[in-house]
Amino acid sequence: MIKRIKELENRSRNLEPDTEEWQSMKKATDAYAGRFLDSLPLQKAYTRFDSSVDELLNEEIGEEPGKISELIRTVENRVIPPGLNPASAGHLGYIPGGGLPASALADYLAAVTNPYAGVYFSSPGAVLIEKQMIQWMAKLVGYPPSAGGYLSSGGSLANLTAIVTAREAHKIKPAGIENSVVYLSGQTHHCVDRALNIAGMGECVRRYVPMDKQFRMETGELKVMIEADLEQGLKPWMVVASAGTTDAGAVDSLDEIAEITSKHNIWFHVDAAYGGFFLITDEGKKMMKGIEKSDSAVLDPHKGLFIPYGLGALIVRDQQLLVEAHTYQADYMQDTKTVNHIHSPADLSPELSKHFRSLRMWLPLKLHGVGSFRAALEEKMLLARYAWQKISEMDGFETGPAPQLSVFMFRYNPGHGDVDAMNREIHRLITDDGRIFFSTTKYKGNFMLRLAVLSFRTHLDTIEKALQLIKEKAEQVNA
Ligand SMILES: Cc1ncc(COP(=O)(O)O)c(C=O)c1O
Repeated sequence: MIKRIKELENRSRNLEPDTEEWQSMKKATDAYAGRFLDSLPLQKAYTRFDSSVDELLNEEIGEEPGKISELIRTVENRVIPPGLNPASAGHLGYIPGGGLPASALADYLAAVTNPYAGVYFSSPGAVLIEKQMIQWMAKLVGYPPSAGGYLSSGGSLANLTAIVTAREAHKIKPAGIENSVVYLSGQTHHCVDRALNIAGMGECVRRYVPMDKQFRMETGELKVMIEADLEQGLKPWMVVASAGTTDAGAVDSLDEIAEITSKHNIWFHVDAAYGGFFLITDEGKKMMKGIEKSDSAVLDPHKGLFIPYGLGALIVRDQQLLVEAHTYQADYMQDTKTVNHIHSPADLSPELSKHFRSLRMWLPLKLHGVGSFRAALEEKMLLARYAWQKISEMDGFETGPAPQLSVFMFRYNPGHGDVDAMNREIHRLITDDGRIFFSTTKYKGNFMLRLAVLSFRTHLDTIEKALQLIKEKAEQVNA
């Protein structure tokens, strides 16, 4: 048996490169990262692809060791280029993220050191860094010290956890689901609807509150709907407000909603996945007044803090409710329970083993300082306003409401022809060009172009380029 163990040890030692090998692997990886970052200004924001990309699926996972240079080549030439380039300054679609390089260094350290970040007993350091991030966001939202939360992989999971927590806090049992009412708007992100289904609340009553011209929930209508539901014997359970809708960047009137929810003891959740970090700006703080009265809020550092994808956050006003929604018992975890003055992420979320994801937020925040983020976010707001103004002035263009944050809709409508088809064509031409990427949406059944400024790399030069392209492509389509 010893002989076999030794043979296996010999082979398995391949998994641990020696110093020389490690240095050479790092060098190859870092060289590509450097090439990528250096060439970013010349890279496309979107690269069209065909089905040949699917050949990646045929790559064999072999028994024998591969070569780092070849593997990096695959990543560089075949994996990364096709499709959207979220690292590009020209990414003005969906909700741009960006991907701060400092977070890459944090991810590297997190993976090398690999602390067990879900449990305080195992890694108090990693847990405390996550707590620091949660406390910082809770303060930003304006919650009292009783607040708690956790870092998720993104906004969808954070919203799901909020819904589960609200379900448990209101003690909704299966028999009560059909009686429970959730209030949303037509602008609520689809992940909330999906989360309701996943959370077992699929059969609850969903009320879509009408919106004003700025795409904000009509709070008067909300009040009327709640009262009508109460009269019918239903149980108004939860209002999901948005602080920055995906399509239009609309911020609901949170203060007014808070007044209604507190009167009727309704769980008040704010999806601030996109807009939340504008709270570090004076204007954003004013706009989101009332968020501090909510029961829970989602903020996505991989949006408004420019962290690479894979980081969302749920903050709950009363941490104890998160704990109660996620209690567990397992004998094999008994050692971890010996230290219990601090709640671990595993006590506050559905996750147990956890990537040390707080480091990717902590490092850039500490390294660059909040002031740099504030400047970047104020800049993005102004860039969006500037772009909206310029497009409003362009011949034949219609704009949606002026951006509250950094997103708005627009379309070309020269007053003749098939307007939807023309806008689809403008979008196609701009995507083919690739220097700028927009996404599209629909408003009242109309095909709309949509511009979102949120990458930390997007500055005035990119916006000028985008405006030029929009004008040029519209003229081309009109001709
Ligand atoms: C307002 C809003 N909520 C939730 C989400 C979902 O977040 P994620 O994509 O991180 O799961 C998004 C994504 O764009 C969003 O804009």
